[in-house]
Parts: sequence; structure tokens; C-alpha cells
Amino acid sequence: MEFRSVGFALLIASLTVSCGGGGGGGGDDGGNSSTNTTTTMVELGRKLFFDTNLSSGSNQACASCHDPDNGFADPRVSVTAPVSEGSVGGTFGDRNAPTAAYASFAPSFGLVADADQTPETDSKYQGGQFLDGRAVDLIEQAKGPFLNPLEMNNSSEAEVVAMVQNADYASDFIAVFGAGAFNDTSVAYHNIATAIAAFEASSEVNQFSSKFDAYLAGSYTLTASEQRGFDLFVDAEATKCANCHTVGDTPETSLFTNFRYYNIGTPMNLNNPAYLADNSFVDDGLGASSAIAESDRNGERGKFKVPTLRNVELTAPYMHNGVYATLEETVLHYDIQVANLFITPEVNEANIAAELNAGTFVGLGLSDQDRADLVNFMKTLTDGYF
Ligand code: HEC
Ligand code: HEC
Repeated sequence: MEFRSVGFALLIASLTVSCGGGGGGGGDDGGNSSTNTTTTMVELGRKLFFDTNLSSGSNQACASCHDPDNGFADPRVSVTAPVSEGSVGGTFGDRNAPTAAYASFAPSFGLVADADQTPETDSKYQGGQFLDGRAVDLIEQAKGPFLNPLEMNNSSEAEVVAMVQNADYASDFIAVFGAGAFNDTSVAYHNIATAIAAFEASSEVNQFSSKFDAYLAGSYTLTASEQRGFDLFVDAEATKCANCHTVGDTPETSLFTNFRYYNIGTPMNLNNPAYLADNSFVDDGLGASSAIAESDRNGERGKFKVPTLRNVELTAPYMHNGVYATLEETVLHYDIQVANLFITPEVNEANIAAELNAGTFVGLGLSDQDRADLVNFMKTLTDGYF
């Protein structure tokens, strides 16, 4: 739990630095940045996050795939159409868009301090953004989608900066980053990402306003089913859910992820356009990430970052490839699929997480009622209750 708060503190620190100094270095911030509050940067970040003009077809914003009304995930996807369409119609990435909420709490991508002591099925790496951690932090992540041909499809940083310079909120950008804010393309591009990251770290995105948060504050009593589900969820013998989907005594320590990487044997989704285009397609997750050492590839094959479960009721379909339509099916994955090793080419049998009893054919032994209780508990994680 300690590394998490450190990561958050670093993010805030880096945002502050970027605000004052232009982030990428050498920017002329006009000398008035000390009067700029974080709130202003958050407001600017919100405008950038929702601006559909910042895509080649003027039809796609970050919010198109990370819609606040849909738990900051893509409302348009389903098991049969599991990945988001890009700004150019008919183009698709190969992963199901995760929520952008609570991502700001991830520590920067790096090695786990006690990597030598963890079992082989744990990863040597933790943190970062994207399901394979290939962006070190939120600022680096936000630089990606604008230029990704399968997403917002702009041709260069300069093109994106020019769009912001012509936007009706260009004056806000100058107010936050100084009179010379548009002078240097790479500094300006870095600051666009910085403002978006500030918005993503704001209380508007990370609301901590669920029934579960009210329960932690003593102002909501879990129903009998929710309580049974909670007890099961944190049971280190029966389900081990909280080993990876961390729960603490406070909202900030209950992010429902430890920001680490595991292979939980997710089967492939035959409806993934990447597979339909090339049926030898396999998503190796962290094992294929540009961010890790070549010698670690095999050991990290099939591992994906543990997703937060906050707002998970709203973010179907589930898993990196959207293979499960409902939370009920997803819980069944842990109970049955893995124990029976539902092997597809995407499942790397060698390093399935020890927590899952893989290969023992034992399963978690949950009853229908247990699974329903787990689902009811996870539905208490939806923001907006208070
Ligand atoms: C076309 C849909 C699409 C658009 C547009 C898009 N994203 Fe994403 N986003 C995704 C997908 C898919 C992933 C996961 C990709 C991966 O892991 O390789 C993702 C991952 C992320 C993550 C990482 C979350 C995590 O837990 O690792 C963040 C944060 C994020 N996006 C923010 C943004 C921002 C900011 C923008 C706008 C600059 C944006 N996205 C635009 C689809 C989209
Ligand atoms: C060993 C670590 C680990 C354990 C234990 C674990 N999970 Fe997960 N969970 C993950 C990882 C990793 C993923 C993402 C896998 C992927 O994308 O293929 C995930 C995905 C999920 C998802 C889908 C979330 C989404 O947004 O797609 C749900 C729901 C979930 N887990 C619930 C549970 C429940 C309930 C339990 C206990 C029965 C549990 N998990 C136990 C690591 C774990």
C-alpha cells in the first residue's frame, strides 16, 4: 500500500513541476504560472479530454472511448464487438478500453522492489499505464492516443498543438502554461498531456462516491448479500480476490488493484478484430511490452495489469479482450474456467497465477449464491451513490 501513495505523490509533484516549468523543459511560461492553480489546469484538461476536434475526423475525443457515463470506459463495445472503433471508421485496436478512472493512482512503471522474493507467477514489474504498462505514467500515456492511427489518428504533435492553438480554449492553455505556451511544439504537446493527466487525477474522475465508500465512512450498511460477497472477496483462503484487487480501510487504499501483473488464463475472444484479421493473433500482454527487458519476455507472457474494479458494473465487456459479457461470467472464470484450464493459444499455461490453483482442477468451489454475492458486492463499487 505504501508504494501506491508514493506513486500518487510523485504524480502530483510532476504535475506541479510541469505547471511551473513547462514540463518538457525550456518552455517560456510567461512568469505568471505561480498564480495558476491546479484547478485551472484540471479545467483545461477536462476541455482537452472532451474535445472531439482533436482527432483526424473531428469525431473522437478521449471521452469517446472513456465516457464518464460509462465508468470512463467505452459504451459502444460488447463481447461481439469488443474493441473501440478509431476516428477513421472501420479501424480497430486490439484491446478492450479499460476505465481511465483511478488510473492516476498507479505508480510509475518499474521493477517490483522485492522481485526476487515473489513467486514465479508474480511479475517482476508493477505500475505504469496501459494493460501492459508500456507508458511509464499518465502523462506519457496521454501522448499516445492522439497519434495512434487506430485511435485519434493525427499525423504529428505539431498538428495536435495547432488544433489546441485554434481551439476556443487556447487562452486557457496560455493562462495555465504562460504566454509562450505554443512556442515550442514538444513542450506544448507535453503540456497538453500534463493537463489531461491533471484532469484524470481530479476528484471529478476519481469520485470515491460509491456505496462501498459510504460503507467505509459508516454511512451505508451493506445488504446481507453484499456483506457475504465482501467477506468472500477479502477471504484469503476461499477466493483470494483481494490478493490482487486490493482492499484497505480507507477509500484511497481500496483501489481494487495492486497495480501488478498476472496471467489469470483469460481465453481469447474470437470476435476480436485482430484475431478475425489474422487468426494467429495472440496478445502476450506484458510479455510483448516495449517497456521490459528482452530476457524477461517469456516469464511475463500472458500477464496483464490488474484492473481496478471501481465502476466495474458499468464497464462491460470484461478482460483485456472483452471476452466476458457479464460480471457473473467473469466470476465464473475464476471458479471454473481456470480450474479446468480452458486453454486457447492466448493462454500461457506456464505462469498462471498461483492464486488460481491452475492445473489442479479444484476450482474455487463457489456456489451459485456465492457468485451472486460476489457480483452484488462488486456492484457497490459504482460511483454516484452520494
Ligand atoms: C479509440 C478509443 C480510445 C481513445 C480515443 C482513447 N483511448 Fe485510452 N485506451 C483505449 C484502449 C483500447 C486502452 C488500452 C490499450 C492497451 O492497453 O494497449 C486505453 C488505455 C488508456 C489508459 C490506461 C488505463 C490503465 O488502467 O492502464 C488511460 C489512462 C487512457 N486510455 C486515457 C486516454 C486519454 C487521456 C485519451 C485521449 C488523449 C484516450 N485514452 C483516448 C482506448 C481509447
Ligand atoms: C492473481 C491475481 C488475481 C486474483 C486472485 C483475482 N483477480 Fe480479478 N483480475 C486479475 C487480472 C490480471 C485481471 C485482468 C485479466 C485480463 O485482462 O485478461 C482481472 C480481471 C478481473 C475482472 C474484470 C475487470 C475488467 O474491467 O475487465 C473482474 C470483474 C475480476 N477480475 C474480479 C475478480 C474476483 C471476483 C476475484 C476473486 C474471485 C478475482 N478477480 C481474483 C487478477 C486477479
